[in-house]
Amino acid sequence: MSAISYVCFLLLLVVSVVGAKVLKVKFEDTPKFVGSDTNVTVVIGRDATLTCTVENLQKFKVAWLKVDTQTILTIGNHVITKNHRVSIGKGDQTWSLTIRDIRLSDAGQYMCQLNTEPMTIQTHHLQVSVPPDIINSSSSGEITVREGENVSLHCSASGAPKPTITWRREDLTPMKIGSEVASKWNGVWLNMSSVSRDINGAFLCIATNGVPPSVSKRILLRVMCKPKVHVIQKMIGAYIGDTVNLHCKIEAFPPPVITWIHQDTIKLQNGTKYQVITESKSYKHTVILRVYNVCREDIGSYYCCAENQLGSSKNDVTLYTLATTTMSTSTTERTTTAWIPKSTQPYAELEVSVDDEGQKYSNEDSFVVVLSQQQMQNIDLSPSS
Ligand SMILES: *[C@@H]1O[C@H](CO)[C@@H](O)[C@H](O)[C@H]1NC(C)=O
Ligand SMILES: *[C@@H]1O[C@H](CO)[C@@H](O)[C@H](O)[C@H]1NC(C)=O
Ligand SMILES: *[C@@H]1O[C@H](CO)[C@@H](O)[C@H](O)[C@H]1NC(C)=O
Ligand SMILES: *[C@@H]1O[C@H](CO)[C@@H](O)[C@H](O)[C@H]1NC(C)=O
Ligand SMILES: *[C@@H]1O[C@H](CO)[C@@H](O)[C@H](O)[C@H]1NC(C)=O
Repeated sequence: MSAISYVCFLLLLVVSVVGAKVLKVKFEDTPKFVGSDTNVTVVIGRDATLTCTVENLQKFKVAWLKVDTQTILTIGNHVITKNHRVSIGKGDQTWSLTIRDIRLSDAGQYMCQLNTEPMTIQTHHLQVSVPPDIINSSSSGEITVREGENVSLHCSASGAPKPTITWRREDLTPMKIGSEVASKWNGVWLNMSSVSRDINGAFLCIATNGVPPSVSKRILLRVMCKPKVHVIQKMIGAYIGDTVNLHCKIEAFPPPVITWIHQDTIKLQNGTKYQVITESKSYKHTVILRVYNVCREDIGSYYCCAENQLGSSKNDVTLYTLATTTMSTSTTERTTTAWIPKSTQPYAELEVSVDDEGQKYSNEDSFVVVLSQQQMQNIDLSPSS
């Protein structure tokens, strides 16, 4: 059999036996999309590329259109739109639409279209994501409330997808929200009722939406509170000639006027005899009264007083002297024999409440009597006396 008759035989076979196949061959002659519709997400400012792959294009043309505006962007490898951020990239069977410097308005449906009869289309979805941003003007700034009041902190943020807001304290300590105690809180509002002074401080509202970077705003909450004066060591002993520090701790906001008073009236100021040293951290203030060269006149009660616009409070420290005993040997030793003011006994009473606002100044002047070394040697302190 010659080659020609072999080909004729094959043609006959194709035409006569599988007539339907002819139709199929004809169908395969029309262009066809490869792959399906896509969703492309691009961060604002970046470039986006949508790709359309077509097989067997023949004389037909590929056009890109933006659906919502009904704009023809490209036809073949020509850019039709005047938008100079748009370009078309032609591969073997691909038509890639690239949009530079993506804007929010670029989001939407894009159509890859073939001018077949009827028209063939493929739709691609472009989503634009935007990192979160806190809207300063509609978020809380610095807030000042009184202790016991309710407070609402608010933060709002823009971004795509819509950001979620998380609250926490800058120092990560827990906060009381309603009946819950939590170190984190989600929502645009952070509502706290009947706030106490220890909630004073910085809060952070953090906006996240999965598109980096997350952003936060620092919101300072100030809780105005009446002074509370706390004395850790109610009684402090010193030897004559010593320098002694009397400590007191104050909680107050706004910052209080702090004074130390001795013998009910004398307001103590910096000088050669006294130094008042104050260290403040937020609403907490540590105050030291340094008394130089302790002498007999220095014994007695010292009042640490604090006053601000919400009120005043005070607490006292008692300074007593420790006696110096001359031993029978020639050396002088310090002992801890303490001469304690009568009025402060028994010791149980020393555990007074911290907030002794309204407590009257003591009028008793029954302070220690400091004896001379000679007098002391003459006193028999033994229990048998
Ligand atoms: C593309 O996104 C749209 C809307 O977000 C959604 O309805 C569709 O199912 C997504 N399609 C694909 C292929 O992921
Ligand atoms: C945000 O608002 C506060 C007042 O609420 C203002 O003090 C601050 O400067 C603002 N910050 C910015 C970045 O605009
Ligand atoms: C928080 O307080 C704000 C303003 O006072 C109010 O609009 C909001 O509904 C409150 N939110 C909650 C969860 O209580
Ligand atoms: C503070 O909040 C509590 C509990 O949410 C509420 O019962 C009370 O009425 C509020 N007080 C004020 C002054 O809004
Ligand atoms: C008193 O002295 C202390 C320490 O030297 C200083 O820190 C403080 O500011 C002084 N107070 C006044 C009122 O001058």
